[in-house]
Amino acid sequence: MFVTIEGIDGSGKTTLAQKLYQWLSAEGYDVLLTREPGGAPATQILRQLILSNNDPLVNAFLFFADRAEHVSKVILPALESGKIVICDRFFDSTIAYGGYGFGLPLDFLTLNNEISCRGVRPDITILLDIEPSLALSRVSEKTVFESMGMSFYERVRKGYLELAKKEADRIVLLDAARPPSEILNEAKSIVNRALREKLRYNLR
Ligand code: TYD
Repeated sequence: MFVTIEGIDGSGKTTLAQKLYQWLSAEGYDVLLTREPGGAPATQILRQLILSNNDPLVNAFLFFADRAEHVSKVILPALESGKIVICDRFFDSTIAYGGYGFGLPLDFLTLNNEISCRGVRPDITILLDIEPSLALSRVSEKTVFESMGMSFYERVRKGYLELAKKEADRIVLLDAARPPSEILNEAKSIVNRALREKLRYNLR
């Protein structure tokens, strides 16, 4: 099963992804925790380029290269061996940041997302939704992205919310302004439900 965690910088994605990983591992599941950009060994260099570069179009191509390598070398082999894969950011980030945040054409991003994913789609996506001012106050170290300003993050948030509306079956929205323990409990029930559905589907 493939689970992705999404949200703006400072929404608490990384902490949630780690907590879910620990919980599922303790439950006895074989779990892989990974992230984008830079989830595959050969893509560390792409991550460095992306985080130090401020040309959105160049970055879009780097994100697609990063994802194509990540899917083929890390995500797909793990899914094929029966693991649960938890990925901190995936293709929704490309649409929310690149499309809504930076204004790149959505059809260009959607098509290249599809191609770079090689047929892999998340079974479930947890979207941590939060006011940008609150999220950014939590971020200590600033990357190019985190220095973009509030209106940029308002657009990214809007993009995520529109994706969630369009793909309500896959994307589950969580209010990330609540205490971390509440968020974790809700995320656990979402993952449990998705696991049950997957099992039922596989038994058909
Ligand atoms: P990172 O340091 O990994 O941020 P975070 O810890 O919040 O995940 O930086 C990744 C940045 O890249 C983040 O600001 C979101 C952005 N991004 C995109 O713009 N498009 C993408 O497809 C992905 C995967 C990330």
